[in-house]
Amino acid sequence: MHFTTDILTLFDKGWALVTAGDISDFNTMTISWGGMGTLWSKPVATVYVKPVRYTHEYMEANDLFTISFFDEKYRPALGLLGSKSGRDCNKVEESKLTPVRIGENLVGYVQAAHTLVCRKIYSQDLELAPMPEAVRETYYEKEAPHTMYIGEILGIG
Ligand SMILES: Cc1cc2nc3c(=O)[nH]c(=O)nc-3n(C[C@H](O)[C@H](O)[C@H](O)COP(=O)(O)O)c2cc1C
Repeated sequence: MHFTTDILTLFDKGWALVTAGDISDFNTMTISWGGMGTLWSKPVATVYVKPVRYTHEYMEANDLFTISFFDEKYRPALGLLGSKSGRDCNKVEESKLTPVRIGENLVGYVQAAHTLVCRKIYSQDLELAPMPEAVRETYYEKEAPHTMYIGEILGIG
C-alpha cells in the first residue's frame, strides 16, 4: 500500500468525498477536514462529520466507508456535493460523477484519482469543553460538534 501526498493540503485545499452505504443505498458529502497517519499500529484516515449531515446516518450505520480524492476539474462537482443534502435530492446524479460498487457496502467513484477504503475502528463526538473558545464560537454556535471517525485504511486505489 503506497500513497504519496502533501498531507497538509490534501484535504484542506484538494477536498474529498466521504461515502458510506451500499450502492443500492448510500450517501456522500464533501469534506475538507481530515487526516491520515498511524493508530494502534494501523494505517488510518480520520474524517469529521457533523451529526446534522445526512451522511452521518450512513457513517453510523456502516462499518466501511471510502474517501475519494479528485483532480481539480471536478471541484464544481465536489462543491455541489458539499452544498446540497442527499436528504433533499439525488445530488450524486446532479454532480455527474459516476458511483461505482467497490464491494459490499463500499462505494467509490469512477472519476476519483485515489480512493481510500476504510473500516471504522473508532468514533467519538467531539466535546465542546476542551475546545478553544474561538473554535466553539466559529463552528459550533448553531450545530452540534463533529463526530470524529477513524478508519483503518484497508486499501488504496
Ligand atoms: C469544501 C467543503 C468542505 C466541507 N467539509 C466538511 C467536513 O469536513 N465535515 C462536515 O461535516 N461537513 C463538511 N462540509 C459540509 C457538507 O459537505 C455539506 O453540509 C453537505 O451538503 C452534507 O451533505 P449530506 O446532508 O447529504 O450529508 C464541507 C462542505 C464543503 C463545500
